Amino acid sequence: MFSVTPAQFWIRWRVLSLLIAAVTSSSETSRACPPSCRCNSSALVIDCWGSQLTSVPDGLPQEAKLLNLSKNAIKTLVHQQFHMLTPLLHLDLSNNLLVLIEADAFLGLQNLLTLNISHNHLKIIPVGAFVGLSSLKLLDISSNQLLVFLDFTFRDLTSLQFCKASDNSFVFISHQAFYGLSSLRELDLDGFNLTVVPTEALNQLGRLRSLSFRRLGTTTLPNHSFSSLVQLKDLVVSQCPRLERLSANSLFGLNLTSLSITHCNLGGVPYVPLHHLVYLVHLDLSFNPITYIHGNLLKDLLRLEEFHLVGGSLIQVEVGAFEGLLHLNLLNVSRNHLTTLEAGAFQSADGLKALGLDGNPLACDCRLLWVVRRRLLLDFGGNPPTCTTSVQLQGWNFLDFSDDELLKLLTCHRPRILNSKRQDVMVDQGHTAVLHCGAEGDPLPSIHWLNPQLRQVPPVGRIRALTNGTLEVRFAQPHDSGAYICVTSNAGGNDSLRVSLHVQALPSPSKNRFALHGWSVLPSPSPGGIGNPKLPFDVKTLLIAATIGFLSFFSSVSVCFVFMFFWSKGKGQIKHTATIAYVPRSAVSSSSNKAAGSYMETGRFTMKLI
Ligand SMILES: *[C@@H]1O[C@H](CO)[C@@H](O)[C@H](O)[C@H]1NC(C)=O
Ligand SMILES: *[C@@H]1O[C@H](CO)[C@@H](O)[C@H](O)[C@H]1NC(C)=O
Ligand SMILES: *[C@@H]1O[C@H](CO)[C@@H](O)[C@H](O)[C@H]1NC(C)=O
Ligand SMILES: *[C@@H]1O[C@H](CO)[C@@H](O)[C@H](O)[C@H]1NC(C)=O
Ligand SMILES: *[C@@H]1O[C@H](CO)[C@@H](O)[C@H](O)[C@H]1NC(C)=O
Ligand SMILES: *[C@@H]1O[C@H](CO)[C@@H](O)[C@H](O)[C@H]1NC(C)=O
Ligand SMILES: *[C@@H]1O[C@H](CO)[C@@H](O)[C@H](O)[C@H]1NC(C)=O
Ligand SMILES: *[C@@H]1O[C@H](CO)[C@@H](O)[C@H](O)[C@H]1NC(C)=O
Ligand SMILES: *[C@@H]1O[C@H](CO)[C@@H](O)[C@H](O)[C@H]1NC(C)=O
Repeated sequence: MFSVTPAQFWIRWRVLSLLIAAVTSSSETSRACPPSCRCNSSALVIDCWGSQLTSVPDGLPQEAKLLNLSKNAIKTLVHQQFHMLTPLLHLDLSNNLLVLIEADAFLGLQNLLTLNISHNHLKIIPVGAFVGLSSLKLLDISSNQLLVFLDFTFRDLTSLQFCKASDNSFVFISHQAFYGLSSLRELDLDGFNLTVVPTEALNQLGRLRSLSFRRLGTTTLPNHSFSSLVQLKDLVVSQCPRLERLSANSLFGLNLTSLSITHCNLGGVPYVPLHHLVYLVHLDLSFNPITYIHGNLLKDLLRLEEFHLVGGSLIQVEVGAFEGLLHLNLLNVSRNHLTTLEAGAFQSADGLKALGLDGNPLACDCRLLWVVRRRLLLDFGGNPPTCTTSVQLQGWNFLDFSDDELLKLLTCHRPRILNSKRQDVMVDQGHTAVLHCGAEGDPLPSIHWLNPQLRQVPPVGRIRALTNGTLEVRFAQPHDSGAYICVTSNAGGNDSLRVSLHVQALPSPSKNRFALHGWSVLPSPSPGGIGNPKLPFDVKTLLIAATIGFLSFFSSVSVCFVFMFFWSKGKGQIKHTATIAYVPRSAVSSSSNKAAGSYMETGRFTMKLI
């Protein structure tokens, strides 16, 4: 054991230093610099950084403007801890072990501008902790373990403009938590354990211009999440692996110029929630599993200048994707799965100044000629794109091309239909007709079919275009006959092929024919029909139909009969036979307008109860 405890040593040292101070300068009214701190009296700085202090030292020089207590082991701040330091402007308490801040701890610091309490162990901030900080502009409470913001926590911080509260574990933010923050312009929050967006609390922040949610625990951004933040310009939502979609009206009420939703789980560009953001300049949807940018759906974003979708799952940027975006000058789609990017995606590819396209499996053909042509004007962000899929150009960097090579190397081959002999396909009614169409070309051409009415055949339905280029007509009908056109096209051009389909009608002379669409009556066969005069229906079909009809009729009659039996038993009168008259279907329909009963004698049927 030392004979002198640290406290005693401290007191002695202070007495000594006070004496020295009094001797050296009689005008010096302040107290001296605490041991283990470094004081600069001309800059009015007390620097106690990294001094293993376990509490705030007493008797700090009162005229100090900056007190740096960062990187110590301070655990609590007591009531009126700093009340003598009225001129203090900056207080740094970051990197301590703070678990408790008592109410009124900062009372008296009415000139304080910045307060840093980040990297501590606070779980809660008691109401009243920030009383007296009427000039505070910046508050950093990030990297604590804060769970809740209680009502009126920030009530006295009427000058606060910047509040950093990220890297905490909020589970709840009370409705009135942000009450009083009438000057707040920037707020960083962490919402990983929040299951709802704290819309009510945020509604108090009418002056907010920048809001950042690092992490957000919800799967959807609900409607009207930020509806009162009318001055908000910049919204950042990042690192939210659960967030899959934005509700249609989630961004309603906002008039943003910059929006980032990055490192989330969005499967598509949120076209509908975005469409009213006509002042949006900067849009960043990077690191979301987005596969397509569809044509013509972003055109409401009239003022958009930058679009970032780095590290997504893009496989296609459709032609017309940036239609209407006259001011777009930066597109960054680095690190996706794009094989190409056509100039047709842009309203004007000439307006583009920066293009991030590296890290994509690019096929270097005529579709990328426009990029290579503008390679010296475009800013590739330090990573020029490289050719990947073409064997000949594998690994070529876009800056490697010389002008005379361009047209020779970046070529497309117009598609050519294989077996392009005129085809005629004949098929009997009710059978499946298959029309083949194969094509070659570079890049691989797309194939679609036009029907005789020149409308594109859809990929599903009775008549459908399969993905391998084959057209399939199932249960072919005479009216399906006609000329079908296979059209194949790629960036190099197009080719087409006409195929005639003839569907042979089956001859059907009788009016009671059993056709494909159920019990419908077919017109008499065309005289030119090839079919030989067969029976209008075969006996087997008729027998099955008759049996099915009779069985169902018989079963309903039996049910009635059983019912009648029990009923009559209940009445005590037993009748052992029942006579049931029935009218066949055709008779009913033909007699429907005539007097009831006139044709009722058509059939009669007697059952006997055993
Ligand atoms: C005190 O601060 C002033 C102004 O920042 C600086 O010029 C001076 O060197 C500092 N003095 C000491 C002893 O660090
Ligand atoms: C406190 O000191 C540390 C270490 O020198 C420094 O990094 C930090 O910026 C200082 N804090 C303030 C508010 O100046
Ligand atoms: C607060 O302190 C931490 C740790 O020293 C530092 O990283 C952070 O930038 C400071 N905050 C502000 C707003 O200066
Ligand atoms: C917050 O979420 C993380 C990850 O799910 C979890 O480990 C942590 O315990 C949660 N904190 C609270 C206070 O619920
Ligand atoms: C959001 O608003 C849209 C449009 O009013 C509505 O169709 C949709 O159902 C709403 N979604 C939710 C989750 O309330
Ligand atoms: C939206 O913001 C722009 C500037 O960012 C501003 O010029 C415009 O007036 C705002 N519109 C509304 C309705 O507040
Ligand atoms: C695109 O984003 C990546 C990753 O953030 C960056 O390295 C690159 O410089 C950007 N490219 C352009 C053209 O801005
Ligand atoms: C395309 O697929 C269908 C069904 O999968 C098959 O019947 C047809 O023969 C295929 N066509 C070609 C050209 O391979
Ligand atoms: C096919 O190419 C010709 C010119 O070669 C063009 O006029 C025509 O519009 C193209 N047809 C289709 C369907 O793309």
